[in-house]
Amino acid sequence: MNNLNLISQPWPDYELLDSGDNRKLERFGKFTIVRPEAQALWNPSRPELWKQAVAEFKWSEGKGKWHKKKEIPDGWRMSWDDLAFAVRLTSFKHTGIFPEQAENWRWIQKMADDSWPIANPKILNLFGYTGVASIVAAKTGANVVHVDASRQSNAWAKENAELSGIAAGSIKFLLEDALKFAEREARRGSKYGGIILDPPAFGRGPKGEVWRIEEHLPQLLAALSKLLDRKSGSFFLLNGYAAGYSPQSYLQAAESRFDPKNTKGEFGELAIRESSGRILPQGIYVRFCYT
Ligand SMILES: C[S@@+](CC[C@H](N)C(=O)[O-])C[C@H]1O[C@@H](n2cnc3c(N)ncnc32)[C@H](O)[C@@H]1O
Repeated sequence: MNNLNLISQPWPDYELLDSGDNRKLERFGKFTIVRPEAQALWNPSRPELWKQAVAEFKWSEGKGKWHKKKEIPDGWRMSWDDLAFAVRLTSFKHTGIFPEQAENWRWIQKMADDSWPIANPKILNLFGYTGVASIVAAKTGANVVHVDASRQSNAWAKENAELSGIAAGSIKFLLEDALKFAEREARRGSKYGGIILDPPAFGRGPKGEVWRIEEHLPQLLAALSKLLDRKSGSFFLLNGYAAGYSPQSYLQAAESRFDPKNTKGEFGELAIRESSGRILPQGIYVRFCYT
């Protein structure tokens, strides 16, 4: 497995304009916003750009809030390739899009071009959030099972699928606890040609089931190793944020459950390239496919 840092480049509807002083300045479609960014330990390199921002998310006394500097709609659209998504300013500082994932979206498309041995493979996306990875996979012709514990996220993901012109029925949206679902699918003997997961450090299933990455990731990987078809072209993609793990830890966690023989892949950091050329680290990943 190669150690490779994936660096997302700007695209017409997304740009990391600057970062510094624990903040980042980003353009999502037609609006530029400021969000807290713990990694940005340096000084902004283009201070003159920050006045473009229409809103800034700030923490105060443990609570986060958007401060709008102009009248802006609650939501707007942005695109990536031929896909379209709704952007919203959420109460947890997120926008519904994780731009550092763009390199993984490309990889999913490449899997479909190069390696998928069967037409319309079945793909599982756990902790699927607003559905971007599910939509990218569905657009290539895959049948996707999208699992998330939040009714609101699933509604947003369905909206994004419609905006992106995904045929009804090519993504099954399930409101489930990821671990329970994976263990149930393993008992049923289900198989998937691709598995994508983006687990948070802490979360809750729809019935209050607690997800703690340090406790439950190994258990989830054990179930997923039974679900992944080991055919040529079958793939696995694990992302990580904010839990403080090294990419090497994620690699070894995955390798301990999936026999990495007959695979090719990479692991490393996920980052975004700033307009100035600087690189902003955002997360980690491990991905491989069977040869
Ligand atoms: C970090 S986000 C995923 C980001 C997304 N994959 C992307 O790149 O756009 C985490 C998601 O996990 C969901 N979640 C949290 N706990 C869960 C659980 N126990 N089972 C299923 N989904 C859960 C949340 O509702 C949220 O949508």
